[in-house]
Amino acid sequence: MSNAVSFKRKVRLMSPEILSDITIMNTQREHGQGVYDTVRLAYGVPLDEECENCIDAHDVAEQLARFPEGQFVAVYTEEEPNLVVGMAATMRTNRPPTNPPRKWIDEIGSTGIANHNPYGEWLYGVEMSVRPDFRLQGIGTALYHARFELVKRLGLKGWYAGGMLMGYRRYRREMSVREYGEKVINREIIDPTVTMQMNRGFEAWDVIEDYLDEPDAGNGAVLIVWKNPEYDET
Ligand SMILES: CC(C)(COP(=O)(O)OP(=O)(O)OC[C@H]1O[C@@H](n2cnc3c(N)ncnc32)[C@H](O)[C@@H]1OP(=O)(O)O)[C@@H](O)C(=O)NCCC(=O)NCCS
Repeated sequence: MSNAVSFKRKVRLMSPEILSDITIMNTQREHGQGVYDTVRLAYGVPLDEECENCIDAHDVAEQLARFPEGQFVAVYTEEEPNLVVGMAATMRTNRPPTNPPRKWIDEIGSTGIANHNPYGEWLYGVEMSVRPDFRLQGIGTALYHARFELVKRLGLKGWYAGGMLMGYRRYRREMSVREYGEKVINREIIDPTVTMQMNRGFEAWDVIEDYLDEPDAGNGAVLIVWKNPEYDET
């Protein structure tokens, strides 16, 4: 794959000595099951359980038919066949982030990105997951960089998404998800997902209550927006 980027990372959680080979590349149809497994594991769903809202192999095939350059995987190349350890799915939309936020499923139309608009001027973040045993090694960051490059290459206005408030669970007895989200936006609380997104260059605009059924996040998200610094207004 010409756009593939390879790098070596220490996989701390597996063993301090092991160096892993990780490649970031556009998703292929054969990655479908690995994407489904990665999403389930990332959201704490055991692999022997079905997950209704998780992107599965059928969804991957639909995403690839609609917008192949917007789908990415991180693969661990020291296993044969290569193991999918991270994934990122995106679509294009003409709905700007200044419009009132909608629920995740209403934005995307379906997990196969039925609402993808090939002429859309904004990239919309559909999903991103890294397997728990491969986290904190820069794989998520590399998947962000692949998409920043995509936005620039396509000349889009920018990229936005609902960043799930995955750390809310610890605070749910103390405050509402809106209060928690506002504290994350104001950097009074560190959220494992949204703070990371803010640290990668996203602006955090507002809390979106009831974005997506995810108990750990109290179903809440933050509208995160990245404007393409290279966008040509003329
Ligand atoms: C968010 C996610 C994709 C990050 O993947 P990753 O490969 O671990 O990312 P990286 O190694 O590049 O960076 C890890 C970042 O997460 C932060 N982080 C991870 N776990 C954390 C925790 N428990 N508490 C605080 N920060 C945490 C790290 O501090 C680091 O951010 P920083 O460098 O700005 O401090 C991964 O944690 C994940 O799959 N989470 C569950 C699904 C999810 O939330 N998806 C996004 C939906 S919008």
